[in-house]
Amino acid sequence: MRPLFIAGNWKMNPSTSEAAVALAEAVKAGVGTSAEVRVAVCPPSVFLHHVDAVLSGSPIGLGAQNMHWKPDGAYTGELSGAMLQDIGCTHVILGHSERRHGLHETDAQINAKLHAAIGIGLIPIVCIGETLEERQADQTNDVVAGQMTGSLAGLSPEQMAGVVLAYEPVWAIGTGLTATPSQAQAVHEFIRDWLTSKFGEATAQRVVVQYGGSVKPDNAAELLGAPDIDGALVGGASLKAADFLGIVQAARDVTAKGKP
Ligand code: PGA
Repeated sequence: MRPLFIAGNWKMNPSTSEAAVALAEAVKAGVGTSAEVRVAVCPPSVFLHHVDAVLSGSPIGLGAQNMHWKPDGAYTGELSGAMLQDIGCTHVILGHSERRHGLHETDAQINAKLHAAIGIGLIPIVCIGETLEERQADQTNDVVAGQMTGSLAGLSPEQMAGVVLAYEPVWAIGTGLTATPSQAQAVHEFIRDWLTSKFGEATAQRVVVQYGGSVKPDNAAELLGAPDIDGALVGGASLKAADFLGIVQAARDVTAKGKP
């Protein structure tokens, strides 16, 4: 069984560094030192420094929510992977649907960012997923395959094995609608099969594929129990320490029980 990985995507929240520190402190206290389930938090970049200081001595990873593909230069408003690493980041979310759809980020840009992240040793969390219209038109697998083809281009099997994928159906993000475990598992299985065909069985079996979209403490255990769901990328519920820790606990329970 792949180690489960729960990551909190705080998006553009909370609004003060004080609140970010308080949330990080509560998550740190609740996670403790046990590392059987991988945990990371991804605060807004202006709070990374504060949160890094809080997380010192804890196994919790620190992720940014985006980066530029260039190492430096005239890119107003952007941050390089090296800067993020310098401030304590271990992870970076790439290609979140709110950036793909809201900011027109392309697979080619995500791919450039991915190669830059891997090049300096940041663990990328690459997001993929279909919109409601695409699902209703029965295009889910084609959309996900297209995003993987573009975003993951040029990776070696070894590089692929270190990438975390997050399957996030856009219609389930922040809406309270969650894919059922069997709907999610069906797409995760498709993703695993696609990875097998492109990178080989051994690599595909190593890739951690998170599910994201309204994951909550009360639906986490069932989702995480599915054979190809290896964790969760959590938005709204990661802003309340008790909810996020409830999801981490669900991952621990699934880990203790094992999967079929
Ligand atoms: P949500 O967000 O948990 O609030 O649906 C998930 C995400 O966008 O990563």
